[in-house]
Amino acid sequence: MQTIDTLLKEKRRFSASDAFKANANLKDPSIYTSAKKNRLSFWESQADKLTWFKKWHTVLKWNRPHAEWFVGGTLSAAYNCLDVHLTTHRRTKQAIIWEGELGDVQTYTYEQAHEEVSRLANSLVELGIKKGDRVTIYMPMIPQLAFAVLACARVGAIHSVVFGGFSAQSLKDRILDSGSTLVITANAGMRRGKLLPIKTVVDTAIALGDTPVKNVIVVSHLKDHSVTMTSIDHDYHTLISKASPLHDAAKMESEDPLFILYTSGTTGKPKGIIHTTGGYLTHANYSTKAVFDIKDSDIYWCTADIGWITGHTYVIYGPMSNGATCMMFEGTPDYPSQDRFWQLIDKHKISILYTAPTAIRSFMKWGDHLPAKYNLSSLRLLGSVGEPINPEAWMWYYTQIGRKKCPIVDTWWQTETGGIMISNLPALNDMKPGYTGLPLPGIEIAILHNNGNKVNEGGGLLSITEPWPSMLRGIWGDTERFKETYWSRFDTYFAGDGATIDDDGYVMVLGRVDDVLNVAGHRIGTMEVESALVECQFVSEAAVVGMPDEIKGQAIVAFVTLEAAQSPSPELENELIRQVGEKIGAIAKPKRIIFAPELPKTRSGKIMRRLLKNIVEGHPVGDTSTLANPDAVTDIANAFLK
Ligand code: WT7
Repeated sequence: MQTIDTLLKEKRRFSASDAFKANANLKDPSIYTSAKKNRLSFWESQADKLTWFKKWHTVLKWNRPHAEWFVGGTLSAAYNCLDVHLTTHRRTKQAIIWEGELGDVQTYTYEQAHEEVSRLANSLVELGIKKGDRVTIYMPMIPQLAFAVLACARVGAIHSVVFGGFSAQSLKDRILDSGSTLVITANAGMRRGKLLPIKTVVDTAIALGDTPVKNVIVVSHLKDHSVTMTSIDHDYHTLISKASPLHDAAKMESEDPLFILYTSGTTGKPKGIIHTTGGYLTHANYSTKAVFDIKDSDIYWCTADIGWITGHTYVIYGPMSNGATCMMFEGTPDYPSQDRFWQLIDKHKISILYTAPTAIRSFMKWGDHLPAKYNLSSLRLLGSVGEPINPEAWMWYYTQIGRKKCPIVDTWWQTETGGIMISNLPALNDMKPGYTGLPLPGIEIAILHNNGNKVNEGGGLLSITEPWPSMLRGIWGDTERFKETYWSRFDTYFAGDGATIDDDGYVMVLGRVDDVLNVAGHRIGTMEVESALVECQFVSEAAVVGMPDEIKGQAIVAFVTLEAAQSPSPELENELIRQVGEKIGAIAKPKRIIFAPELPKTRSGKIMRRLLKNIVEGHPVGDTSTLANPDAVTDIANAFLK
């Protein structure tokens, strides 16, 4: 194999096989030019592939930064994911294949999924849920999580899924911010052989604050695990068995909100990103067909949890609106053994695998012999998302998993973009390891200098320059923050990522340029972790930065000064890490805590995080002459290296 340097220097290209190209959903390159020439009619033709109760009269109303797409149209996202398949051969096709940690399997056909979602929708109505009400969903990766999402969409309630790894406090904050009156949860989940007491977390969250929650629906997932049920708790299976299986999906306006999804930003408070119905579903449906080349015969597996945007768009709305068979796995890649993914692919004959670079780097470390033991010949396309995939990991994925037969799509997008913005179309563009590729037909991007001018060569800031159907419509309850975060820097949408572009227009994404970390593909705001730390009684100040990490991409390092009476100790370090886990969730736990008598500050008292970043990245510290306390830096650097 060539070295990575030559790969990058020679810009080595790979392409899909002729057979793949001949059968691809998109094989006519003129889609790029036609979409560019008439962008709005291109999007109309994509929206036309959905079933609308009433057709729109206006494609786009754009009053920067507020977009309305397919205005006047009505539709239902749930109807498009379920009902539309019932009159076709897909009625008896598997919609979901679920496997638990220990190999137990459940499957649901489109007809079965439709019935369960309809029953649950009727149960929601009986509990008083109406169009526009918010419902928080806090569950493990089980089929009922997908059903809960679709049942909300069916009645027009706005779902807010909170990833099951978030703590009670984070859950409470999200319930309060969204004003959810109902929570859908499960009695428990499984992770690495241990029971996760999901329902207890919900109980704690509700006890912690004055939430508007009136009812809780509890799926009895682990049958032997009993939980305390109070007067607001309802057993999922009892509810749906009593409910009617007939439910007419609510007719939603194209711009009615479909969901809120919280994500981290540069302040301590997560942002509730709002997505609406018609535009979001149009892009989810189109991008799944275009990028993953999804076909009726595919068994498709996106390994993301539904608690993240990837799970919303590419476990539920994209694939199900295309009538695909989706794999769902409640488990981790290394339990009970490190070959768990390859077992699943072999057993279920998975043909499309969409996963994250952090997982791929773990697989590389665990060894080539693990995938080599399995028959992976069902695979025909591989995808990557969440952070840049380094060329080493790309080559490993291509050779060891794809066995040099599967094209790889590296997909760049964000919670805010709703769906994939940049990725090669597998039959139309060559792949270049290290580059995510071209913007999708219909999407316009530019790399900008700080002053807003376009960069023609080299690096700059990534911006999406034309409105797109699945763009975020705002931040729940905070229009100012929406404007400030995404629209104040440039005239066009500011993504928060640095990127370069090459002669062919291929984009290389370099990573976040703001105070947001990407830990194992999960977005974490440095301010959130800092707030969690300073809430601890012994901490006087904290500064958090990202340190390069071989597997996770970035790891969290916290520099902490203690209250005068407190002295540093390994016990205190563990205690602070535990407290961050308790306040935010395990994903936000710092890898290291460095205690320092003082943090480097400017004369006006601002903490110089840039210098701390240089230290953890192993770069020269840089100019310290403007600091109020230059000696602090040397002490901290020594403490870090120790
Ligand atoms: C941030 C968005 C979109 C689903 C998962 C994360 C980074 C995402 C890539 C990629 C380089 C990527 C960016 C982006 N990112 N995909 N293929 N190459 N970077 O969603 O939590 O909203 O995070 O993830 O930095 O801004 P998210």
